[in-house]
Amino acid sequence: VSQKLNSIRYVSDTDSITADMLHGFFVGWPNPPNVDAHLRILQGSYHVVLAIDIGHNKVIGFINAISDGVLAAYIPLLEVLPAYQKQGIGKELVMQMLAALNHLYMIDLLCDPNLQPYYEKLGMHRGQGMLIRNYDKQNAQ
Ligand SMILES: CC(C)(COP(=O)(O)OP(=O)(O)OC[C@H]1O[C@@H](n2cnc3c(N)ncnc32)[C@H](O)[C@@H]1OP(=O)(O)O)[C@@H](O)C(=O)NCCC(=O)NCCS
Repeated sequence: VSQKLNSIRYVSDTDSITADMLHGFFVGWPNPPNVDAHLRILQGSYHVVLAIDIGHNKVIGFINAISDGVLAAYIPLLEVLPAYQKQGIGKELVMQMLAALNHLYMIDLLCDPNLQPYYEKLGMHRGQGMLIRNYDKQNAQ
C-alpha cells in the first residue's frame, strides 16, 4: 500500500480560495458559520495565513487578524483540522501571523486557559480581557 505524503503550502491571499475548500472547520461550535461565511471572514480580514493541502486542494488550517492598520490587531480565529493537528501546522500559522503583524503595537487574542501555555511557547503573554458573545449571531447569518 502506497501512502501519499501530504504537501502543505502556506498562503496569505484568498484569491485562489473557494468556499468548497473550507469544509470541516469550526469543530464543536453549536451554530457554526457555513463555508460561504467562512470565506467572507477570510476575505474581510486584515491578514490571513492559510495552510493548504496541495494534494487534496483544501484548506486544512487557518488564522486571521483584524486591524486598524495603525496600532492594533486582534486575532479572532485559529484552527487546524483534527486530522492535521500535532504536526506543527498551528505553530507555523501563528508564527507567520505574528511576523506579519510585527509592525503594530498591540496584538491581542483571547483563548481558554488550557491554550495559554501553547501561546506562551510562541512568545505571547498572559493578559485579561472582557467580551460579549451574541450567540444567536454565531453562524454569521
Ligand atoms: C490549537 C491548534 C490550532 C493547534 O494546532 P496544531 O497544529 O495541532 O499545533 P502544533 O502542532 O503547531 O503545536 C505546536 C506546539 O504546541 C503544543 N500544543 C498543542 N496543543 C497544545 C495545548 N492545548 N496546550 C499546550 N501545548 C499545546 C504541541 O505539543 C507543540 O509543541 P512542540 O512544538 O513543543 O512539539 C489546534 O489544536 C486546533 O485547531 N484546536 C481547535 C481550535 C482552537 O482551539 N483554536 C484556538 C482558539 S484560541
